Amino acid sequence: MTSAVTARHLASAEKGLLRFITCGSVDDGKSTLIGRLLYDTRLIFEDQLASLQVESARRGARGGGIDFSLLLDGLEAEREQGITIDVAYRFFATGRRKFIVADTPGHEQYTRNMATGASTADLAVILIDARKGVLVQTRRHTFINHLLGVPRIVLAVNKMDLVGYSQARFEEIVADYMAMAAGLGFKSVTPIPLSALEGENVIAPSALMPWWTGESLLGFLEEVEVEDARLASAMRFPVQWVNRPHLDFRGFSGTLASGALAPGDPVVVARSGKTSKIRAVVTADGDLERAEAGDAVTLVLEHEIDISRGDILCAPSARPTVARQFLSHVLWMHEEELQLGRPYLLKMGAQSVQAVVSAIRHRLDINTLSPAPAETLELNGMGLCEITTLQPVAFDPYRDNRETGAFILIDRFTHQTVAAGMVEASLQKATHVYSQAMDVAKPARSVLKGHKPAVLWFTGLSGAGKSTIASLVERRLSLMGAHTYSLDGDNMRQGLNKDLGFSDADRVENIRRIGEVARLFVDAGLIVTASFISPFRAERDMVRSLLEPGEFIEIFVDTPLSVAEQRDPKGLYRRARTGEIGNFTGISSPYEPPVDPEIRLLAGEGDPAVHAATVVEYLKMAGVLARAEDAPLDFSI
Ligand code: ADX
Repeated sequence: MTSAVTARHLASAEKGLLRFITCGSVDDGKSTLIGRLLYDTRLIFEDQLASLQVESARRGARGGGIDFSLLLDGLEAEREQGITIDVAYRFFATGRRKFIVADTPGHEQYTRNMATGASTADLAVILIDARKGVLVQTRRHTFINHLLGVPRIVLAVNKMDLVGYSQARFEEIVADYMAMAAGLGFKSVTPIPLSALEGENVIAPSALMPWWTGESLLGFLEEVEVEDARLASAMRFPVQWVNRPHLDFRGFSGTLASGALAPGDPVVVARSGKTSKIRAVVTADGDLERAEAGDAVTLVLEHEIDISRGDILCAPSARPTVARQFLSHVLWMHEEELQLGRPYLLKMGAQSVQAVVSAIRHRLDINTLSPAPAETLELNGMGLCEITTLQPVAFDPYRDNRETGAFILIDRFTHQTVAAGMVEASLQKATHVYSQAMDVAKPARSVLKGHKPAVLWFTGLSGAGKSTIASLVERRLSLMGAHTYSLDGDNMRQGLNKDLGFSDADRVENIRRIGEVARLFVDAGLIVTASFISPFRAERDMVRSLLEPGEFIEIFVDTPLSVAEQRDPKGLYRRARTGEIGNFTGISSPYEPPVDPEIRLLAGEGDPAVHAATVVEYLKMAGVLARAEDAPLDFSI
């Protein structure tokens, strides 16, 4: 097998390294081209060559030659069995340069693989079959490279042997392509005519195309100047971990994502705005006078400031954006489609936060690349989306920095990566805003109120008795002198949430907003009752995660459907049965019962007042009704 090494493995190779990606399908001759580059630069091992000859002969390759595409077919087969990675990085070298080529399958369903390969490439070789010219897929490949910020394109017009090495045909294709690629902002687009199969103009200039005065493909790849964009970008040091082996040493370890740094440089923590100065740049081989993008180092700072994993250190004069809302290109990579408003885990470098896709501005038709309205993105779908995160994240637009402008979304339960994203711009008008530490904080409020704040989250079917029990609880708490507030589904849907219906997405958004409101009331020191069907586990968990441990008390009002339906206080079940009301929970829309609620009330029977008393007892037991013990209360001015 050819050496399929990982890009990371070679990240520190010498400066002359060229990373490129090849785009095209087997039909375009991609495998043959890569095979030839590897073969003619003598990378293929001898034993592999022998078996290749045998296999080529067996398959009747033309003229007894070697079928180079067989080299890659082996990998294809492994891929089909799910053994190999989606993107194979192959390493080869000539006397003049070292190369890493990301080989990715070219079919539409592999868009995500191509994106993976392109995200680190200096250059993309886009293959075109000279007989076919610019195709829809050429357009798609070009656009993905544009989106992923690949700066240079080589247009390899292949199979020139099949068009009689015609200069006119070549020029026609080039004109077509240039018209399409203009405006996409590539630093250079270099067309090269060749025949991978015949080896014409791949490694050396071709005698069969005397009209071509440019270079061969390899000649060009050896010469092309690539600037390491990471070096030219502003300094970004994402902290991977805080290194504290003993009390006398505290360092921040990570790989410098972009720019350069040196001892003495001032730094600022992107999210908190805290500042310090670099005292030393430590590595296993001793201290450095200077570190550059790609260097793995540990920084020691002058001051003891609060820094944790996921923070980004940068220069005070060139800070990244810090925001909770941004616009981003999203490439969906999972069979289960995108669900608006559902919380995912967003990982951006070492930062990890909960996030929702709050809107899709448009979807891009993968072939025509024209924007179209969309409610969701399916596998391999691309779209421009609005992302909202629970906590602020620090980032740069992807076009400015490929390291700090890219993220992935992960399903919180299966832990699978479901999407990749490239940030376009912040959506917050005020971008350099930092959390303000409040003088009167939660503990102080708790002392004043005489109890701790909490959310009593009543979930269950319509007609289960949520609101009835919640209001009895609130009445009891008020009698005890507690400060309460109640949020209720029917009421909220007449005000804050009057724009929402009962589709899955609307229910998710309903609960997200209620969660935010509940959080504010908890911050204000209140005991909040919230009565919402809230049928989805993920959203209830999302609200839980907005609050501190112990503040979210999930109360499952567990009434059998048959009982709720029989009660039918508002006549809704009857209308749901006739189909007059659609998406009705329990009838035509699902309910996911809590797995491990704090309190479960068998509310199909018994007196609601007794259930309310149970809840109040729980609050006493859990210490909610006691004032915060160690609250520092300092109102001196
Ligand atoms: S949730 O599912 O989004 O949490 P919420 O608790 O806010 O629902 O609102 C539920 C209330 O809306 C019900 O008590 C009922 O009165 C009313 N309602 C109207 N249509 C529906 C429906 N299709 N499904 C459930 N409840 C509905």
